[in-house]
Amino acid sequence: MIRLSFLILILIFCLINNSFSNQSEGEKLFVQKKCITCHVVGRGRFVGPDLWNVSDRYSKSDLIKWINNPENIYEKYGKKPYNQGYPPMPNMNVSTSESLKIISYLKSLKKNISKESTVSLKGKINNFSNDLNKEYEVNIESVMADKVLKSDLVKTKDGFFNIKDLKGNIAYRVKIFHDGIEYSTDKFYYMPDEMNKDIDLTVYDASQDKKSIKISSAHLVVSYDEDSDNLLFAEIYNVINISKEIYIGYNSRLEQARKIIQFSKFKNIENLAFPHRSQDTLLVEDDKIIESIPLPPGPRRIVFTYNKPMDFFNTKLEKNFINKIDLLTIIVPESKIKLKIKDLEFTKKMSQIDELSKESYMTYSLKDVNQGKKLTLIFNKNINQFLSPRIIVFLSFLFISFVIIYIILKKGLLRTKK
Ligand code: HEC
Repeated sequence: MIRLSFLILILIFCLINNSFSNQSEGEKLFVQKKCITCHVVGRGRFVGPDLWNVSDRYSKSDLIKWINNPENIYEKYGKKPYNQGYPPMPNMNVSTSESLKIISYLKSLKKNISKESTVSLKGKINNFSNDLNKEYEVNIESVMADKVLKSDLVKTKDGFFNIKDLKGNIAYRVKIFHDGIEYSTDKFYYMPDEMNKDIDLTVYDASQDKKSIKISSAHLVVSYDEDSDNLLFAEIYNVINISKEIYIGYNSRLEQARKIIQFSKFKNIENLAFPHRSQDTLLVEDDKIIESIPLPPGPRRIVFTYNKPMDFFNTKLEKNFINKIDLLTIIVPESKIKLKIKDLEFTKKMSQIDELSKESYMTYSLKDVNQGKKLTLIFNKNINQFLSPRIIVFLSFLFISFVIIYIILKKGLLRTKK
């Protein structure tokens, strides 16, 4: 086990929501339209008022106004907020037909709900790295909007925890601190008629043994955008942690950030972006991109996108591999651009890629690319790309201008001779 003073890494678990299948549409909308993040039914005040007997207190048309867009209520009654002691309710963009479904859901609840009921939370902590049934301290945070109101510690017994008599009109978050890493669920809410939640959480022992981290494959998908005259790239890495421990890497010079795995980066590229990832979880240096989120056992996919403006003749991109890659595949639309790969061995094959149906692509496969190897890619426009209509017009214009200038000059010369 590694002592990691000061180090808190947060991994977020996703709670698997209870099956949506037998829920009414109104109930689904209550979650989808985020009503659940501010309202409970029968369990008291939350961010907004309890909606238990709301249909007795408002006419149907006023209820629709509330749910459609509360601004209509504020306008009608000339006060905002309407209820004393609450903030105004934001517009949740709910249509009238959706509002009606929510209203009938709320009405149906009034009969079935046991008022003021409390809720319970139980779960199991699994340690993926070993079977020892350790005791864990589970931290249950009560969350209101984004503020943590209080946090309670409970100990597990044989890996299980069970908490009863929790208030049902608040959001919760479960956190565990294990081996230098803080694991946390997202905020979660109880449905109005939900009495118990069952959550299983997995924790890992931490390791700094880099040997278990492998890049099994990498794809470099190239395309060419004629309008902007740019090469567009997507790099996809399949990384795998083959151990049973979570790999936590090393502290980076940047505070709190970790160096988990590094990917070499071409210099002089533009608009580097990480789809599906928040920008600050990957650190960018001049020639590399560094993953900073610890890697639990199993696979992870990491994607970068960027572009490179074409130079008039050769567009050259170079980088040195930081890791060994079992298989690197480069995919290029050769009807538009030609690729030359320098110094490295590859096999080349024309292929039809289902997702990119309209064009045929050339696939370059490079096996066992080793650390320290240099990758040099040289792109050229195809000749028909050179002779695009715009260039033809430009060249014709240039030619006609020359002819006209030539005629004018010649006439001028003749005149001066006379
Ligand atoms: C960000 C928090 C928030 C969300 C999300 C939210 N509400 Fe509200 N809601 C409030 C607050 C705060 C009030 C009280 C506002 C006031 O009095 O001006 C309120 C008031 C209401 C009222 C009037 C209650 C009363 O007793 O006067 C109804 C009905 C209502 N909301 C329904 C909904 C529904 C249905 C949704 C989902 C589509 C929803 N709200 C989403 C915060 C929220």
